[in-house]
Amino acid sequence: MALRKIFRAVIMGPPGSGKGTVSSRIRESFGLQHLSSGDMLRANIEAKSELGLLMKSCIDQGQLVPDDVISRLILASLREMDHSSWLLDGFPRTVSQAESLDSEFTVDTVVNLDVPFQTIKERLTSRWVHLPSGRVYNIDFNPPKIPGLDDITGEPLTQRDDDMPETVTRRLKAYENQTEPVLEYYRSKGVLATFTGTETNKIWPHVHTFLSKKMTQSRKIRGHV
Ligand code: AP5
Ligand code: MG
Repeated sequence: MALRKIFRAVIMGPPGSGKGTVSSRIRESFGLQHLSSGDMLRANIEAKSELGLLMKSCIDQGQLVPDDVISRLILASLREMDHSSWLLDGFPRTVSQAESLDSEFTVDTVVNLDVPFQTIKERLTSRWVHLPSGRVYNIDFNPPKIPGLDDITGEPLTQRDDDMPETVTRRLKAYENQTEPVLEYYRSKGVLATFTGTETNKIWPHVHTFLSKKMTQSRKIRGHV
């Protein structure tokens, strides 16, 4: 389904809830541009940029990077994507970040993946990623065709430094304390849609149906059926 009008969405959920995996599917099905704050930070670390080096210790310890740094980075990218439809993954993660986003852009919908913490802890240790594209594999759930290599480019896959068990626990704590209030923020604005489950493949059809309807409505409201 190709998009004709601008549609702006945010995907939320605890670390390892499947935001990256579902985002790839949304991008393929609906043609939204996917912007992941974590992927952008990891690209900066990989490129050894000044920002990347500064942020690496925060990320490796499972803490959030400062609001002003990430807000500047993301908003600058969104301004460049001026007339496109986008899907934000990993941002906003604090109420202050949500307010910064709101000051410049209107979010049409927020997809919230509600996955139990226990499921998450089991998943993250078997995750492998292709850093340049952000493609996510899991040795149990969606393994690459050739072990250790990206399906599309054939380049090597890596494991994230912050996927160690104790770091995952810290990331989940940061989520509870700093990010859960963002859900309330969007709920009160009437744009939050929550999808509960333990398996991405079961959650995905519901997200797909929801977004298909939402985008049709959004075109009608804007008078471009
Ligand atoms: P970020 O990269 O955004 O990490 P995260 O939110 O911790 O989430 P993940 O990327 O780990 O998980 P995901 O939900 O994308 O799940 P995935 O699809 O990979 O952020 C990293 C760090 O950057 C943060 O900790 C922070 O320091 C910093 N940062 C980023 N944004 C920030 C911000 N706005 N403000 C401040 N700091 C910020 O799936 C997870 C795994 O599960 C995969 O292995 C997948 O294959 C597997 N999986 C999915 N479904 C299933 C299933 N049904 N069965 C088994 N496995 C499954
Ligand atoms: Mg991710």
